[in-house]
Amino acid sequence: MTGSARELTTTARDLLGCSDNERISSLAREPFVSYGTAKRILTRMDALLRSPRSHRPASMLIAGATNNGKTMLVRRFTDANPAVHDDEADAVSCSVLYIQMPPTPDARQFYLAILEKLNVPTQRTAVLSHVQSQTLRICRIVGLKVLVIDEIHNIHGGRIEQQRHFLNLLRYISNELEIHIIGCGLPSALRALQSDEQLTNRFEHWPLPIWRSDKSCRVLLNTIESTLPLQRQSSLSETETMERILGLSGGTIGEIARLIREAAAAAIRAGAERIDTDLLDSLGWVAPDDRRKAAEAVLGHRS
Ligand SMILES: Nc1ncnc2c1ncn2[C@@H]1O[C@H](COP(=O)(O)OP(=O)(O)O)[C@@H](O)[C@H]1O
Ligand SMILES: [Mg+2]
Repeated sequence: MTGSARELTTTARDLLGCSDNERISSLAREPFVSYGTAKRILTRMDALLRSPRSHRPASMLIAGATNNGKTMLVRRFTDANPAVHDDEADAVSCSVLYIQMPPTPDARQFYLAILEKLNVPTQRTAVLSHVQSQTLRICRIVGLKVLVIDEIHNIHGGRIEQQRHFLNLLRYISNELEIHIIGCGLPSALRALQSDEQLTNRFEHWPLPIWRSDKSCRVLLNTIESTLPLQRQSSLSETETMERILGLSGGTIGEIARLIREAAAAAIRAGAERIDTDLLDSLGWVAPDDRRKAAEAVLGHRS
């Protein structure tokens, strides 16, 4: 990429003629940046949604560190497949539903989370068997096909017995409704699913690893750079700059994107109009691991 032949998104290019303040404000937006694994996961999620119902529906586990883009990815899929109202039939069709796993693997809380997302009035005191049959009935009526469960590692928030019951429940609703389950959460979720032999076989593992200094990271940084309204080229994917970004960010996409946006704002303010290692070093950025250590030191000091 040379300065004049830089590839910018249309939005970034249009912003080049705007004032410094406008360009800095635009950096507060968090556009979705696509990358290889994200594309493959989105393609697979779409394939599950389009596949005919089966009595052994495949499921997915998207596992990765916190702040590494799991929720943003599944949200992109759920936003692309919203519930629709069929005026003629006066019925709602909801083929994809997103819920957060309750803090503990509690069946009632889980069913209530589904019902609330479907705007079904619920009675918190209703007996579990009633809540369960109501949930299954309504999921059938709306034609649910894919249930996305975020923070699925919360399965670990209960005793072993409770965890086992919950895994049985997942298998039961998946079989009974013939729906695909897409779980996302910390890598520890894999351990929970592996304790159930049948679920392990059914859940495809889709890891979202921490970014490392390699070709796919170069592509990611080039894509992020193409969204920045800077007058000059930064070459974020050059080895030294890439490694500095990875070192300061700890390698999660959330931290990488935030660091680069902060650096871009600083580059506009300073008139440098490009991000290099000197500018990154001047930000006073504290890497997430160091932030954590500092917080632990304060807490340890207090106790
Ligand atoms: N594909 C992406 N493109 C741009 N920014 C992203 C992307 N994925 C994640 N982010 C950034 O990372 C932050 C954390 O992402 P999130 O999906 O909430 O992580 P997780 O669910 O893994 O904890 C988001 O607020 C967003 O700023
Ligand atoms: Mg999340």
